Amino acid sequence: MKVLIIIGSLALVTGELASSDCNGVVVRGKCHEKEVLADNLDRPFRIIVDFHTNVLYFSYSIDNNTVSGYLDLNTKELGNITQVPEGFAHAVDQNRHEVYIGTFNKDGIYKFFYNNKTAERVGANGVDIWSMFYKDELYYSTYPDEVVYTLKNGESIELEDMKGNEAEIFVVDRDDYEFFKNGSGLYGKRRGTTDADLYDTQIIVRSLVTDVFGVIHACSENGIYVVDKNKKMLEKIADIDDGFSLAFDRDNNMVYSDSLQIIRLKLKSGDF
Ligand SMILES: *[C@@H]1O[C@H](CO)[C@@H](O)[C@H](O)[C@H]1NC(C)=O
Ligand SMILES: *[C@@H]1O[C@H](CO)[C@@H](O)[C@H](O)[C@H]1NC(C)=O
Ligand SMILES: *[C@@H]1O[C@H](CO)[C@@H](O)[C@H](O)[C@H]1NC(C)=O
Ligand SMILES: *[C@@H]1O[C@H](CO)[C@@H](O)[C@H](O)[C@H]1NC(C)=O
Repeated sequence: MKVLIIIGSLALVTGELASSDCNGVVVRGKCHEKEVLADNLDRPFRIIVDFHTNVLYFSYSIDNNTVSGYLDLNTKELGNITQVPEGFAHAVDQNRHEVYIGTFNKDGIYKFFYNNKTAERVGANGVDIWSMFYKDELYYSTYPDEVVYTLKNGESIELEDMKGNEAEIFVVDRDDYEFFKNGSGLYGKRRGTTDADLYDTQIIVRSLVTDVFGVIHACSENGIYVVDKNKKMLEKIADIDDGFSLAFDRDNNMVYSDSLQIIRLKLKSGDF
C-alpha cells in the first residue's frame, strides 16, 4: 500500500513539473530542450516537414515580400526557394512525398522537387494562397476571401462542406474530422455535415497541423494545444512565447516558429 502511495505521489510531482525547473519548454509536464534550427528570420510562418526527406519548409519576409525557404533537418542546410516567387503556404502529400507551395503573387500553387530544386505550376491561378493542407487531396484557402477549395488535376473546386463558410485555415484529422479557423473562432465538424461545433473563440489560433499520427494541434501566440474532440475544446500542452507556426518532424518532435527563430523541442533525457 505504501509503495502505491509513493508511486502515486511521484506521478503527481512529475505531472506538475514547474516551468521554473526546466531550462527549455515544458510539454505535457515534461521538460524539453530548445534546439534553435534557424535564427534571424523575419516572422517565419507556415512551417511543415516532409517526413520522407526530413526537410522543413517555411516562409518568411524579406523587404516585406514573402519568400519560401527550406531547412534540411539532417544537414541544417538553409535555402531560399527562388524557383517559386513569393511562396507563402506549404503542404506535403506524405504518401507520395510531394511538396506544394502556395504563392502570394496571384501565381497559384506549385509542386516543388527538392531533389533537383525545380518547381512546376499545378493550378489555382489568379489567387493568393492563405493556407494549404494535404490529406488524400490538396486543400487550400484563398486570401482575402477565405474560400476553401480542393485542387485535383489542375482543377479547383470549392469544397462542398465549407460552402458559405469562411476559413483562414482548414485541416482534416485521421478520422476525417474537419477543423477550420475563421474570424469568429475555431470550429470542428464531421465530414459531410454542415453544422460545425464551436471549439474556441478566445485563443488566437495561428496554425493548425497534424502530428505524424494525424492528430490536430494548434499554435497560438502563447501556447501549443491539442484538440479534444470529446470536450470540444483546445487543451493547452505547452506555454511558448510569441508562437507563429507549428509542425512535427518525422520523429514527431514539435517544431515551432516565433517572430525570429525556428525551434525544435526535444525531450530531455535523464531527468524529467
Ligand atoms: C515594410 O512595411 C512597413 C509597414 O508598411 C514599412 O514601415 C517598412 O518601411 C517596410 N519595409 C521595407 C524594407 O520595405
Ligand atoms: C535568402 O535571400 C536573402 C535575400 O536575398 C539573402 O540575404 C539570404 O542570405 C538568402 N538565404 C540563403 C540561405 O541563401
Ligand atoms: C526534377 O525531379 C522530379 C521528380 O523526381 C522530376 O519529375 C522532374 O522531371 C525533374 N526535373 C528536372 C528539370 O530534372
Ligand atoms: C465561422 O464559422 C462559423 C461556423 O460555421 C460561422 O457560424 C461563423 O459565422 C463564421 N465566421 C465568419 C467570420 O465567417
